[in-house]
Amino acid sequence: MSEGILTAPPNLNSAGPEAVARILIIDDEAAIRESLETLLSLEGYAVESAENGEVGLERIAEQPFDLVLLDLALPGRNGIEILGTIRERHASLPVIMITAYGTVGNVVDAIRGGAQNFVQKPWDNEKLLADIRAAVARYRAEEENVQLKRALRQRYNFPNIVGKSEPMLRIFDLVAQVAPTRSTVLIQGESGTGKELIAKALHANSPRRDKPFVPVNTGAMPTDLLESTLFGHVKGAFTSAIAAKKGLFEVANGGTLFLDEIGTMGMDTQAKILRVLQDRRFMHLGGVQEIQVDVRIIAATNVDLRQAVREGKFREDLFYRLNVIAIELPPLRGRREDIPLLATHFLRRFSEENGLPPRAFTPDAMRVLVDYEWPGNVRELENVVERGVVLSSGTTIGADLLPAHLTGASYSTSLLEHSPDASLFDIMEDIERRIIVDKLERCNWNQTEAAEAFRIPLSTLNQKIKRLNIEIRKRVKD
Ligand SMILES: Nc1ncnc2c1ncn2[C@@H]1O[C@H](COP(=O)(O)OP(=O)(O)OP(=O)(O)O)[C@@H](O)[C@H]1O
Ligand SMILES: [Mg+2]
Repeated sequence: MSEGILTAPPNLNSAGPEAVARILIIDDEAAIRESLETLLSLEGYAVESAENGEVGLERIAEQPFDLVLLDLALPGRNGIEILGTIRERHASLPVIMITAYGTVGNVVDAIRGGAQNFVQKPWDNEKLLADIRAAVARYRAEEENVQLKRALRQRYNFPNIVGKSEPMLRIFDLVAQVAPTRSTVLIQGESGTGKELIAKALHANSPRRDKPFVPVNTGAMPTDLLESTLFGHVKGAFTSAIAAKKGLFEVANGGTLFLDEIGTMGMDTQAKILRVLQDRRFMHLGGVQEIQVDVRIIAATNVDLRQAVREGKFREDLFYRLNVIAIELPPLRGRREDIPLLATHFLRRFSEENGLPPRAFTPDAMRVLVDYEWPGNVRELENVVERGVVLSSGTTIGADLLPAHLTGASYSTSLLEHSPDASLFDIMEDIERRIIVDKLERCNWNQTEAAEAFRIPLSTLNQKIKRLNIEIRKRVKD
């Protein structure tokens, strides 16, 4: 493989999430520009203004922005036209339209033209700021994703593997380093951490890439079947062997054999596999002739093989043969910075697959995703994102479209962690209290709305509020 492959990752965070977001205001009214400038600067944004569309386009050409606030009724080329030009040049830069009287037709044109959203004068500051925050967060996540993918693609051929956490970057380096060799690789990691994906990346980045990648789930088969599957058999080797059959070791010749779930393989099969690993030779079941193959072996397991060796369930010699190169995939909860990246990656994939416009998680929903423990790791995240995409009707996916146990689990762990002796009753009350407070917060402390959202009578909600000693906070002013 070429030398370039092991160069350090490029600086991907030149406009990372920590950098101050830059907003461009395009409006011909000085008073509007000034009040928006003040509002946004106070929020910590870097703000630039332009008094017409042409000047605005020049600013965008000169420097990067994270969002544009664009007046619909501009002198000269109007907002819709300017929006069209922005879209041509910067397909994903978020644009929020400002409309004076918001005639339905214009707003529809704006949204069709690719505006993220629109605000009507006079606007509600809090709502505008919330829209801006969501749009900027989404844009940055997407941009980061695009950049990371581009960088990874340049370095190696990993088209669908996403990750920027330190342990994943180390794994990418290791994969690039060992992929071109014939060394046996043992991939260990919890269920759903991406073991098969890494195995495929090893194959795809090896000189064997044009030969077969043959996965076999060694844990799921009874010993006899597994052995005839792996080694093949001659005609008449056993009663049902009415014809000779090739084994997967032969099918994978020249390529890679992926022995999945190797931790639960029977002792007899382990001995036979050990032989093939030692001299790349084996015999068909019932056969007498040795067959030589050139196969690269990648094994994966979600059980701790060292522990299995100590317990006498796994041959020590086979363990060392397999463990030439060890890749440990960390659980998702151990690399939470990968969660937004993966979520955005899956969002894009599922939206595309379903022919839907791009969607984004609200900051609330993203927080829930990042905080959750993910016992099923990346596969579980993938399923949660798919569910959200299917259930959502707008372009955002809120926390309400996430499975209840995602929010529930984080509620329960906190009390369990802080007071391990708490009674079940106390834990349940604590969870109920948190869920109700959470909903009230989302409903701006409007009890009627919260009761409706819970589909319970207002009186029931009020009883619960009393029993659980929930202090009703003042409604936030609009
Ligand atoms: N880093 C990643 N980037 C993108 N997708 C990923 C990543 N890791 C895992 N996935 C996706 O998550 C799913 C589970 O991955 P995979 O099947 O490789 O896990 P596994 O460790 O083999 O799981 P199991 O132990 O349950 O067999 C797949 O759909 C895979 O594409
Ligand atoms: Mg797997």
